[in-house]
Amino acid sequence: MKVSTGPDLEGAAGMKVPLARPWVGLEEAEAAAEVVASGWLIQGPKVAEFEERFAERMGASHAVAINSGSSALLVAMAALGVGPGDEVLCPDMTFVATASAALFLGAKPVFCDIEMSYYGMDAESLVRFITPRTKVIVPVHYAGHTAEMDPILSLAREHGIAVLEDAAESHLATYRGGPVGGTLGEMGIFSFTPSKPMTTGEGGMIVTDSERLADTCRRFRNFGDHSKFEWAELGLNFRLPEALGAVGLVQLDRLDEAIRRRRAIADRYNQAFAHVEGLVTPKERTATDGIYQLYTIRLDPERGAPPRDRVMEALTERGVGSRIYFPSLHGQGVFADHGPFRNEDYPNSLAFEATALSLPIFPTLTDQEQDYVIASVLDSLEVQTP
Ligand SMILES: Cc1ncc(COP(=O)(O)O)c(C=O)c1O
Repeated sequence: MKVSTGPDLEGAAGMKVPLARPWVGLEEAEAAAEVVASGWLIQGPKVAEFEERFAERMGASHAVAINSGSSALLVAMAALGVGPGDEVLCPDMTFVATASAALFLGAKPVFCDIEMSYYGMDAESLVRFITPRTKVIVPVHYAGHTAEMDPILSLAREHGIAVLEDAAESHLATYRGGPVGGTLGEMGIFSFTPSKPMTTGEGGMIVTDSERLADTCRRFRNFGDHSKFEWAELGLNFRLPEALGAVGLVQLDRLDEAIRRRRAIADRYNQAFAHVEGLVTPKERTATDGIYQLYTIRLDPERGAPPRDRVMEALTERGVGSRIYFPSLHGQGVFADHGPFRNEDYPNSLAFEATALSLPIFPTLTDQEQDYVIASVLDSLEVQTP
């Protein structure tokens, strides 16, 4: 039976709440316009300043700007020497680019299962997939929550395998007190698409403490140039346009405030959903580890939650954006020639795929919009709030 649902839906008729909305405005427009007016459009001093300040914020020695997070994965893997015959180990639940970058280099992506606290790589599953061909392990810091890195790092060290952190979603998320994304493993990458904690529209960054790896990435992103028209090694054009470097500098200044707002929104969701049976809220390791690029809940049917797809449909009907971030990768057609991958190796990732739902979270989400989302979720679960 349908019952009353907490915050009032009356008066909210016609409201639409998107899943994400970038926090950009006049300052970014002016910064970009200044670059365009200067006539210097390709990677130049603004990008260099962006790299320097980004590295400083991440507590790393080097940052190399790239034109997307996916390209950053490709360039970083190339710098680590990934090529034909190699295997690259990724979690089964991540964005496709984590694994497809390996395919572009002729290597084979291999998937391990996730753990169900922070939805990162599960070390017990990981160890089963390490082979003498494993070249790189790519832990993903999912949705702004950091992967359980210690067991992953010790396995990598034990087997002499490089670690590339996919921190595309996790700018300034921390693990054991320090920012993730490049300083725990050999390298890390970030993405700056509009749903990320900071955005340049398109864009990415590689972070590392290794001068050698940073230099290799810089050459690879610029045609393999050693000096002008001297091409001793392979490269292509992966450069970030100068105007986007200028936008990145503005966004970097706003990153702390963006994260503060994301955390405040997550707190409100956590409070609203705390006592809802069958609704699993994101788990926090410490108060500063998670930065909530996404707010992903799970609807556990064994604890009485209705089917996730039904809830998603109900939210769509109410104009509330939601999405499954991410379905598992091992069954995706693009990887079919590289298996066989067996469903029984991925129970957590498959359970996640069947039950996860990401809700709207972005710095400009108003209390009224969030109340509407909360009411819509509770209404679609048909629960009575206390
Ligand atoms: C985990 C992860 N890795 C890689 C990427 C790729 O980044 P981009 O979209 O900037 O290419 C994304 C996001 O888009 C992501 O979420």
